[in-house]
Formats: sequence, structure tokens, C-alpha cells
Amino acid sequence: MLSPNPLSLLCALLLCLPLAILFTITITTTTTTTSSSTMHIPKKSNPNLTTTFLSINTQHNNQSNKPTTIDEYKEEETLFIVANHTKRKATWPRKLAFMFLTTTPLPFASLWESYFNQIPKKLYNIYIHADPTFSYDPPFSGVFSNRIIPSKPTARFSPTLTSAARRLVARALIDDRSNYIFILLSSSCIPLHSFNFTYHTLINSNKSFIEILNNEPSSYDRWAARGEQAMLPTVKIEDFRIGSQFWALTRKHARLVVSDRKIWSKFNKPCIRLDSCYPEENYFSTLINMWDPKGCVHATLTHVDWEGRDDGHPRTYVADEVCPELIWSLRRDRPRYGDDDDNGGWRRRDPFLFARKFSAECLQLLTEIADGVIFKD
Ligand SMILES: *[C@@H]1O[C@H](CO)[C@@H](O)[C@H](O)[C@H]1NC(C)=O
Ligand SMILES: *[C@@H]1O[C@H](CO)[C@@H](O)[C@H](O)[C@H]1NC(C)=O
Ligand SMILES: *[C@@H]1O[C@H](CO)[C@@H](O)[C@H](O)[C@H]1NC(C)=O
Ligand SMILES: *[C@@H]1O[C@H](CO)[C@@H](O)[C@H](O)[C@H]1NC(C)=O
Ligand SMILES: *[C@@H]1O[C@H](CO)[C@@H](O)[C@H](O)[C@H]1NC(C)=O
Repeated sequence: MLSPNPLSLLCALLLCLPLAILFTITITTTTTTTSSSTMHIPKKSNPNLTTTFLSINTQHNNQSNKPTTIDEYKEEETLFIVANHTKRKATWPRKLAFMFLTTTPLPFASLWESYFNQIPKKLYNIYIHADPTFSYDPPFSGVFSNRIIPSKPTARFSPTLTSAARRLVARALIDDRSNYIFILLSSSCIPLHSFNFTYHTLINSNKSFIEILNNEPSSYDRWAARGEQAMLPTVKIEDFRIGSQFWALTRKHARLVVSDRKIWSKFNKPCIRLDSCYPEENYFSTLINMWDPKGCVHATLTHVDWEGRDDGHPRTYVADEVCPELIWSLRRDRPRYGDDDDNGGWRRRDPFLFARKFSAECLQLLTEIADGVIFKD
């Protein structure tokens, strides 16, 4: 393997070609690239939604004005091939990748802005998947400006939310070798602690936090939502798991996600029973449980209240519920650990780091208690 043989040359070619392609896709002759990593989604309906094209290798900049046509399937395929070739070890200092999945402007942008205030940029990155069929007014600004990854439409009861999360993981892996923990958040999530507390909790844990539940009442229906035999032979009913859509994955598991074709090909099938179709709550838990159940704590650190809800929507806090006691009570709650957690779930008590769902009108009161309560550990 030391001297260049045809195989290694082919590998090098395969690696370089996608990089060149990635930098030329969707750029039309008329688009002027203003900076190395910014370009416009060629979607006329929403000119204000700019995509940050997170750089892989900036050397290709000067070629990027050439028009290229390549279908979206190939683009996505290439993204995952490149992400799959990222390095296993994260460089220091290790960073948290905050990945927001949204279809609206972020209502708590200013709260997050305070959260990140004075935190060195070398400790975190932000990525946004913003469904391009919606408009974003006000546009993403401050720490969120130019952080949108090339995004696609998302809808519930379909694999598209899972695709979006996978896309975020792939982009974050490619963008920065220091990304060590990959945190998925929604626009209705808020932080429950300071950045410093969250950073140390996640970086020092060395494990993913992902809810992994077995034998839930809806397990069979969800597994069979694409047809009785659809998941076989790859994902048997005994392999199937359920968990929160929101998790924090280590780099090891982020790389597992982008490497996976086989299990994803099952979860990526359309459902025939929509009322049992929640791939975003099944795919990641099932995948990681099948490959590395010991590498994670089987619980989510994003608090949510499902008490008495059966409509698929958790409790949403409204403005007059927001007070210091609410934050303290969410922090006091103990996460739900999966039964097959080999990391001592029965005796753990990990701190919730985020909470959902908060309605936009909560911003004012949350801001008032931010410094005194939310960011005070
Ligand atoms: C784009 O942004 C400008 C200025 O921020 C605003 O006036 C305009 O209405 C926006 N257009 C769309 C389609 O959102
Ligand atoms: C790109 O082109 C500009 C001007 O044409 C040049 O100054 C710059 O060095 C080039 N960059 C690369 C990476 O080739
Ligand atoms: C940050 O968190 C660590 C561990 O929780 C703690 O030891 C340290 O004092 C904190 N630093 C600040 C500036 O709060
Ligand atoms: C983290 O886990 C990996 C393997 O899972 C291990 O090699 C490494 O030593 C661990 N690091 C710490 C700080 O525990
Ligand atoms: C990622 O790499 C592994 C090992 O080289 C390979 O088995 C897998 O098919 C690759 N996955 C993708 C999506 O390229």
C-alpha cells in the first residue's frame, strides 16, 4: 500500500472528485459568490434565505462559478461519502455542534445569543437546517447568520425530518474536525443551564445521550408502519427502538450515522400507515442500539412533558407559566433511562441540559430570568 497502485489512485480520485463537485453544484452562471463559503439557494421564492456552504476545502473556490447540473440525489450521496471519510478523532479543543432543525425563524435567538455570549468560538459551532419552502423573517442573524446548511423540505409522518438530522450531522462532520458532540435542537428548545455547564457535562461524558426504549406500546405499529415485512431482514422487531427526536451524539456515533446505508434504506421508506410513522424517533435509537449500545446513555437530556398527551404533540409552555420555579423543576426531573442501558441507567441522574416546547411568547420572561436562573448553575 506504500507505492501508488491503481486502487489507491482510484480512491484518491473518488475522494477528490466529490469535493470538486460539491463546490460547483447548484451554482448558476449568474450567481456571484460573495465569500468562499456563501451561496444562494437557487429557489426564487425565497431570495432572503442564504445557505452557508460549509467549506470542506476552500482551494476549490475559484472554480465555483462554472455552471454544473447534477441531480439532488447525487448531491446528497456525495455529501455522505465525503462525511464518511472524515477523521475518527476530533482535534482539540473539542467543540459542541449545536444543530437546529427549524421551519421558522428561531424565536429564542436572543436567549441563545446570551448563552453563547463571550464563549470562545473555538468551543462551539452552530448549524441550521431551515426548510426552504418557508420564509424566515427576521432572517437569521448574529451567531446564527450564515449558518444555514443546504436544506430540503421537511414534513411530519415521513422520513424527511430524519433526513434533515442526518444532513446536519454530515455537514457538521465535514465542516470542523473539532466537532465532538452533535446536539440536535428544535426552534422551541431552550437551554436549562449555562454554556459552561453544558460543555463540561457533554465533553467529559464521552458517551452519547440518546433515549433508547424497548417494548413500548406503539413499538410494533411503528415497526410495521411501512408494511409488515418492510423492515426485514435488516431490522427485526426485537432490534427496533423508540426514543426522543432530540439527542446529543458523540463524534463516533455521528460517523456511524453518516456511514449507514443499510438501516437507513429501511427507515427511508415511505409509510403506509401515517399514524404510526415517526422515523425521527426510531431511526437513531435503533441504529445506535444495534451497533454500540454501550457507547451511550439511553436517555435524552432534552426535557419534554408528554404527561397526558396522546396527540403526538408534547406540552407547550406558555408565557404565564415561565418563572424560576419552572426552570428549577425541569432541572430536578430525572431523565427516563431505557431498560437495556448497560451504563447503569438505574442509578444515574444526569442533568437535563435543554427543554422543550416553549411558545415564542415566552421569550420576554425567559430573558428576564436568563442571567439569574437559567445560566446560573
Ligand atoms: C428580504 O429582506 C428584505 C430586507 O430585510 C425585506 O424587505 C424583504 O421583504 C424580504 N423578502 C422576503 C421574500 O422575505
Ligand atoms: C482565487 O482568485 C483570486 C483572484 O483571481 C486569487 O487572488 C486567489 O489567490 C485565488 N485563490 C485560490 C485559492 O486559488
Ligand atoms: C465551568 O464549569 C466547570 C465544571 O462544571 C467548573 O469547574 C468551572 O468553574 C466553570 N467555569 C466558570 C467560568 O463558570
Ligand atoms: C472515551 O471512549 C473511548 C472508547 O469508547 C476510549 O478509548 C477513551 O479512552 C474514552 N475517553 C475518556 C476520557 O474516557
Ligand atoms: C462508509 O465507509 C464504510 C467503511 O469504509 C463503508 O462500509 C460504508 O458503506 C460507507 N458508507 C457510506 C455512506 O459511504
